[in-house]
Amino acid sequence: MSRVRFPAGFHWGSATASYQIEGAWDADGKGESIWDRFAHTPGRIRNGDTGDVACDSYRRWREDIALAKALGHTSYRFSIAWPRIQPAGKGAPNANGLAHYGRFVDALLAAGIRPLPTLYHWDLPQALEDDGGWPNRDLAGRFADYAEIVTKALGDRVPSWILLNEPSIFTTIGYLAGHHAPGRRDQDAFLRATHTVNLAQGLAFRAVKAAHPKALVGTAFNMSPCEPEGDGEADAAAAERWHAFTNEWFLSTALRGRYPDAFLDGPPLGRMAVRDGDMEQIRAELDFIGINLYSRTVVRARPQDPNLGATPVGVAEGSAGPRTDFGWEVWPASLRDIVLRVTKDYGRRPIEITENGCSYADGPDAKGVVRDERRIDFLRAYLGALADAIEAGADVRGYHAWSLLDNFEWAEGMTQRFGLVHVDFATQARTVKESGRWYARVAAENGFDF
Ligand code: FCB
Repeated sequence: MSRVRFPAGFHWGSATASYQIEGAWDADGKGESIWDRFAHTPGRIRNGDTGDVACDSYRRWREDIALAKALGHTSYRFSIAWPRIQPAGKGAPNANGLAHYGRFVDALLAAGIRPLPTLYHWDLPQALEDDGGWPNRDLAGRFADYAEIVTKALGDRVPSWILLNEPSIFTTIGYLAGHHAPGRRDQDAFLRATHTVNLAQGLAFRAVKAAHPKALVGTAFNMSPCEPEGDGEADAAAAERWHAFTNEWFLSTALRGRYPDAFLDGPPLGRMAVRDGDMEQIRAELDFIGINLYSRTVVRARPQDPNLGATPVGVAEGSAGPRTDFGWEVWPASLRDIVLRVTKDYGRRPIEITENGCSYADGPDAKGVVRDERRIDFLRAYLGALADAIEAGADVRGYHAWSLLDNFEWAEGMTQRFGLVHVDFATQARTVKESGRWYARVAAENGFDF
């Protein structure tokens, strides 16, 4: 047995998102979001589930913060629902919304937990979708206005901000594949959306810095190491292009001021409606890189489609490891690999693991104990891989388990349980899982035996 150790001051936390846990979808002046509309549309979500109630955290937030504290968390990543702040996505703020998150931040600080808010975790005000959604470049400025309102209200108490959650996922699945809100399938709209989101990231970065120059600002990027399927050069080149597209489309733009080499013919600037001067606005010296990691990707060349096509082509999840109940492959080295790749390519910048976790359906046994050994094994292995990356030179500042609570898992509704804490959705009873206890010990000791 050896001891896995983390750097002094390492942040141990968990992550959640407003639509996935809050419920209270129309309370206190909140506007409709694209996820309210999508979930209320028959046939979109498994079993017809919605986030109308979810974990009821908009009302039970004191209990949830008490749980995070009891589990030794020193950081909590949550998201702010834009339609609680600006019900129609523009104009004067709704005082109730700002007051809610103000109380929330104060309670986290009183519990000794760093608040790590995300400004956009997918619940776009429906009124902005009615104006064209992310393909409409006006949204970039709207998002910056919203960021300014929130940081002016909370920035004196919040040290670090996450601008966007998984920009590559919400543009691809929302506007190209159509499985997530707003459920559109339009290649041009998708390409324009990616550019607006890049602009939004750059403008909001400046808005937050203007309000609070000392704030640390980053984005939570969905990332997945891309491995070639075969030994040949063609697969290796395809894997690099897919890496550029899936991992760097919103990162290289910010840090290097240019779109990465995902397409053989260069980025489709015309279809993306890129204008002169845009790249200067997009360029942003992010203070940290947030990484959400769940799986690795195996890539095979498709000579007939060297430009990756409209949809993910020639890509698959790895299939050599065991699978979680969601069907996602367990492959711990993927966390080490992506952290080291980013460190190699972008220099030794601060990294926060903003999400990592697994779905297992374990519930309370006859004694009320949730014996989720598979989640403990998962966490042990991924945290071991993360410690290896730190040992090899990466500057990782914190780890956030997805998630504090079992919650609403987007198109899968309430069927996928990712929590360190079990939630009985009929009664809202919270039960700490064995993994939650294990993780609390790791946080307390800043390490574990492996
Ligand atoms: C990520 C999302 C998060 C959660 C996990 C399982 O892609 O950011 O909201 O649903 O997947």
